[in-house]
Amino acid sequence: MARPVAVVTGASSGIGAVFAQRLATTHDLLLIARRRERLEALAGKLIAEHQAGTAGGLAVEVLQADLSAETGLSVAAERIAAEPRLALLVNNAGFGTRGLFWNGDLALAEEMHRLHVMATVRLSHAALRNMVARGSGAIVNVSSVAAFVRRRGSAGYAATKSWMNAFTEGLYLELKSIQSPVKVQALCPGFTYSEFHERLQLDRGRVAGPSFWLRAEDVVDASLRALPRGKLFVVPGWRYKAIVSVVSRLPTSLRLAVESARAGKKPARPLKPAPDE
Ligand SMILES: NC(=O)c1ccc[n+]([C@@H]2O[C@H](COP(=O)([O-])OP(=O)(O)OC[C@H]3O[C@@H](n4cnc5c(N)ncnc54)[C@H](OP(=O)(O)O)[C@@H]3O)[C@@H](O)[C@H]2O)c1
Repeated sequence: MARPVAVVTGASSGIGAVFAQRLATTHDLLLIARRRERLEALAGKLIAEHQAGTAGGLAVEVLQADLSAETGLSVAAERIAAEPRLALLVNNAGFGTRGLFWNGDLALAEEMHRLHVMATVRLSHAALRNMVARGSGAIVNVSSVAAFVRRRGSAGYAATKSWMNAFTEGLYLELKSIQSPVKVQALCPGFTYSEFHERLQLDRGRVAGPSFWLRAEDVVDASLRALPRGKLFVVPGWRYKAIVSVVSRLPTSLRLAVESARAGKKPARPLKPAPDE
């Protein structure tokens, strides 16, 4: 029988590459990113490991696409919409930026927003039309603990990840309202070994203590374990579960005071609770 197809964006390194490795045992793969040679090397390795070409062997398709650009995004969305065996979409491609928003590179900030928000919108739309009509499938949106714990220097990044959580929650409710078996998950990792921090030229040791660093394998396994159960928010690692659980219960005023103290700055004015509290 033909295998189901999993689409992984940002599969050329880090968390996305591990999703591809894990899913290769059960799914055929469509791997998307900009670095074609990386995708082809991964595809070659997986094909060798999983005896492609034999009955039930693995098929891997590589799609080089910049998902922050209209052309790449359209090609990817059309390919996903047309896939009759589509079983899983992992919206994983992403990157961070450094520094205070107004001092930073605006073009890069816009690129990040297009990638995290618009690519997730377009690819999820393409996938859900396909999946809901067939009554099966799942989407994993790779968000971040930053969706809950906002901090100085990641205003745009945290906002896009909060958007991703809100979007995934909205889809969850919509799918439930029509009793669709299609599942959605927001995967919210904390600091994870990948190329993410290298691209930002950040020294991992200065970012967080060793006990806060997660292996991409553990992040992906937590996601895939939770998927059949239909868990909406997945926060891998007990430390991050505890942090998210506490932070989400804090009143905004207290959360902002803690974050301001952590940033070494006192708020300019006393903080008042937000109107909705
Ligand atoms: N590492 C962490 O600490 C951490 C924590 C929480 C959440 N996350 C999230 O996890 C996801 C994966 O990141 P990672 O940690 O695995 O980092 P990574 O190793 O740098 O991987 C990022 C992936 O995104 C792809 N990508 C970036 N821009 C793209 C674009 N314009 N079009 C298509 N693909 C693009 C990259 O491939 P190409 O460069 O080849 O295009 C790469 O495959 C991101 O969404 C990130 O926000 C990471």
